[in-house]
Amino acid sequence: MFAMIGTWEMSLQGLVLGGRTLQKGGDAGDAVVEAIQYVESNPDYVSVGFGGLPAIDGQVYLDAAYMNGDTLQCGAILSCTEVSSPVAAARALCGRKTNWMLCGESAKQFARSQGIPLRDMRTEPSQKRWKEAVEQKKADEASVPYKGHDTVCVLGLDSHNHMVCGTSTSGLFLKEPGRIGDSPIPGCGYYCDTRYGAAAATGLGEDIMRGCLSYEIVSRMRSGQTAQEAAEGALLDFVRTMDRLEEKDLSISLIALAPDGSFGAATTEKLFPFTVALPSGVRLFSCSPDGDHMNILQTSSVTLDA
Ligand code: GLY
Repeated sequence: MFAMIGTWEMSLQGLVLGGRTLQKGGDAGDAVVEAIQYVESNPDYVSVGFGGLPAIDGQVYLDAAYMNGDTLQCGAILSCTEVSSPVAAARALCGRKTNWMLCGESAKQFARSQGIPLRDMRTEPSQKRWKEAVEQKKADEASVPYKGHDTVCVLGLDSHNHMVCGTSTSGLFLKEPGRIGDSPIPGCGYYCDTRYGAAAATGLGEDIMRGCLSYEIVSRMRSGQTAQEAAEGALLDFVRTMDRLEEKDLSISLIALAPDGSFGAATTEKLFPFTVALPSGVRLFSCSPDGDHMNILQTSSVTLDA
């Protein structure tokens, strides 16, 4: 048995590549990094890696993480420029006893020391998008300066029953330089314990971190809930808490994977697409809230054949 689950439709092709690695008996870590790197290197995916969403100063600052579910070791880089594969740098940090979470210049120098190429992660379209948004913001200070902050998160289980997870994002559009979201923070943007399962989050990091939602999901799986029950329950309980605090308009989507390969998802969005790779192929699903549960529909599928 092997399985992977990824956030948003942008993870589809990456899951095909990672799924093939798992099909050949490969390691979950290799498959997850391969899947995320496909997204990081593609400038058409504007919220991750190369061509990602710029901060208010026009620079692209990247956050990424990797967690090994067998050892509970993590690696993460925060607010880092020019690292061509943030998730590869995060994975290279995973296994250290100390100094496994590096930010800024230090993270960049670490990536370079690991042979991860450095490049300018800004592209012409990303600079155009930034200039237009900055001008618009000046014209209307009351406008919401960003829309869209989608992280690629991938959870993987290989045929040796090893589980890992990874995340990568450029974070909020027009963020303040130095701002960190949930994606590199364990328990918030991701968590993985091979005994119970893995979970990850995408959406507004400032809200996700208040609920430690990825840890919450894995904790519920440890208590015997299925991946779907855990994702759905963690989100709906958090929404109720935020309702009580009169905080509305949450933008949070969650994925979960159990050690038996079953999966779950939950969202506050009208529609949250996610992808799943299984021995039978890679499928695209849509998740949408419907009262106190989630509707999950398969919308398309592709085979793992090369
Ligand atoms: N979830 C990504 C971020 O808020 O930066």
